[in-house]
Amino acid sequence: MDVVFFFQWLDGSMLAEFSKSSSGIFAVVQTIHIASMVVLGGMLLLGDLRMLNVVLPDVPSSLVIENTKKWIYLALVFIVLSGIYEASAIAMKLAYNSFFFAKMAGLSMGIVFILSLRSAVYRRAPGLVYPEGSSQTLSQSDTLRPWIVKLVAVTNLLIWFGVASSGRWIGFS
Ligand code: HEM
Repeated sequence: MDVVFFFQWLDGSMLAEFSKSSSGIFAVVQTIHIASMVVLGGMLLLGDLRMLNVVLPDVPSSLVIENTKKWIYLALVFIVLSGIYEASAIAMKLAYNSFFFAKMAGLSMGIVFILSLRSAVYRRAPGLVYPEGSSQTLSQSDTLRPWIVKLVAVTNLLIWFGVASSGRWIGFS
């Protein structure tokens, strides 16, 4: 499917006119893009490394997953908005950049993955400790095998590592 028309439209938009006119604002937005990526990556790492029993082994895993969720969504909103702003300034370069398309494919896959498989599997992780006083409990038969949970954690880390690397690669290409 030819999507160049979309980049041509973006390149001629008012947003592009504005983003191309100020390199100072572009630098600030790029910093927001990277800061959001740090928050997103940090929160995903916390949850995934907790499930791999690498960090915070004494903290209830449900607490880690629950508390990182809203920061993941917030970081995604900021990263997408700042990304669109950045993309408008170099739209015609991106139209022919395979790393940009790889990044968008990875991003879509990552979002679907955290909304579906990651959250469904983490909800049924074995040994999932709920905070004291919580009404939620998980019977033995409801839990998944540990290797499934670990596989999901490693897969998630690989997907997002790929998204971030292809983002950096756009600058080199
Ligand atoms: C709709 C979503 C996104 C769009 C449209 C977008 C777009 C862009 C653009 C246009 C650049 C500038 C490339 C350049 O000239 O150097 C960039 C840089 C970058 N993006 Fe994104 N991005 C998005 C989401 C993400 C996500 C989710 C991540 C990471 C998880 C990410 C990581 C990066 C990185 C690491 C850079 C390189 C920054 C640098 O080297 O200065 N982006 N992005």
